[in-house]
Amino acid sequence: MALRPLDSFFLALSLFLLLTSPSVSGSATQFCSAGREPSTRILIKGGTVVNAHHQELADVYVEDGIIVAVQPNIKVGDEVTVLDATGKFVMPGGIDPHTHLAMEFMGTETIDDFFSGQAAALAGGTTMHIDFVIPVNGNLVAGFEAYENKSGNSCMDYGFHMAITKWDEGVSRDMEKLVKEKGINSFKFFLAYKGSLMVTDDLLLEGLKRCKSLGALAMVHAENGDAVFEGQKRMIELGITGPEGHALSRPPVLEGEATSRAIRLARFVNTPLYVVHVMSVDAMDEIAKARKSGQKVIGEPVVSGLILDDHWLWDPDFTIASKYVMSPPIRPLGHGKALQDALSTGILQLVGTDHCTFNSTQKSLGYDDFRKIPNGVNGLEERMHLIWDTMVGSGQISVTDFVRITSTECARIFNIYPRKGAIIAGSDADIIILNPNSSYEISSKTHHSRSDTNVYEGRRGKGKVEVTIAGGRIVWENEELKVVPGSGKYIEMPPFSYLFDGIEKSDANYLSSLRAPVKRVPSEATT
Ligand code: URP
Ligand code: ZN
Ligand code: ZN
Repeated sequence: MALRPLDSFFLALSLFLLLTSPSVSGSATQFCSAGREPSTRILIKGGTVVNAHHQELADVYVEDGIIVAVQPNIKVGDEVTVLDATGKFVMPGGIDPHTHLAMEFMGTETIDDFFSGQAAALAGGTTMHIDFVIPVNGNLVAGFEAYENKSGNSCMDYGFHMAITKWDEGVSRDMEKLVKEKGINSFKFFLAYKGSLMVTDDLLLEGLKRCKSLGALAMVHAENGDAVFEGQKRMIELGITGPEGHALSRPPVLEGEATSRAIRLARFVNTPLYVVHVMSVDAMDEIAKARKSGQKVIGEPVVSGLILDDHWLWDPDFTIASKYVMSPPIRPLGHGKALQDALSTGILQLVGTDHCTFNSTQKSLGYDDFRKIPNGVNGLEERMHLIWDTMVGSGQISVTDFVRITSTECARIFNIYPRKGAIIAGSDADIIILNPNSSYEISSKTHHSRSDTNVYEGRRGKGKVEVTIAGGRIVWENEELKVVPGSGKYIEMPPFSYLFDGIEKSDANYLSSLRAPVKRVPSEATT
């Protein structure tokens, strides 16, 4: 990854700034530029600064991509850009744990690449995402290299998860290489997509064991792929070939079954598990049960599953119906609200998008057969706004909860906190200013994705990201994007996040509980 040396540079710089910044004294602190190279200096004044566990009225001073100070009444010289945040919330930029940019899938490639997807993200207040690398013919390193090329035009920070699609010694070896040398700390196993990405239980077990030994987080797409295949055949036999057949062929029970199975296998191996795109009450209930019993399971709902329901799939207009095709499917009314409740009570922990966009021409590949409609919906630009409007706006969650589920928890799970996911001195300057009184309307005519459709078309809401700062640069202001291809950095994510704390002890407890092997004295019958 060409830009990786910058990571250590920024960390060193952060330390330097913290040590050389004028000391804090009295009620006001002066930051000035004497003797420094020209740099990006920003002061955000008068806003409510929100972190996951605290909010306060404070100013935020940024220099060279790093947050240098968070405190009231910071004074600066004329050379500093001052943003007035009075009456607004100043929060960590969103981190989307689940995207697919420039992904080859179902005979085509997602319409958003790293540049267009990230530009859309920045316009919506997301400043980092974690994308899924798909191996090349099962080869992890080849897949990683392909994604290094795809992401060369990045305009914001990003990390990678790696999918595992086959198993052999080479895969096992490459997992170690990716964790130790390339900053990958999570691997995804697809229990669906039979015939392409799907893995069987024996492979999942090998993968779980390997993840555990490397301190990497195992992730699952939890649907029973064999049963989905059967459900699809059933629909075609019934003459149901349109987008509604997609939802009917893979009902919640198949998501519940696979979620339960993956959770039980992770428990058997005693390793943490992350369930991606939790779309149904059935899957959520399995996660709730496991967490209640003390198992380390993370549940990630996605914005489409929280906000939408499946009635669109029955729309007589194919272009409308097909844009809602994703897997697991968007569920009937009721599931979304239950998932929101689970998110607000801590049963589910963070929100992703599964941004995987195909335009209407690409979706029409499945006009005669829903099985050929490329699976995926948009959300990178809309996630922050929709979660704010739906959940903070309705009083379901607090503003601090909003920061936790859209940013901080993701940074913690993937072991990059507090570099990301926080507004504190020393953190990366990925910051948004949200005006709670400003309104918006979502439309494919004005969004920044390359897709000609939007699953949230016409939706209005309140609470708008007016400014996005990424890596210390103002990239979104006055409805205008100022993004530079190649300016985004690859963020290495170290293994052994907090989810692995205590695993060694519980393994030791398990071994000492076995009371085996039993020492037996040979009896007459055995001699
Ligand atoms: O429909 C979806 N979710 N498309 C992206 C691939 C995946 O399963 O995450
Ligand atoms: Zn998936
Ligand atoms: Zn996905």
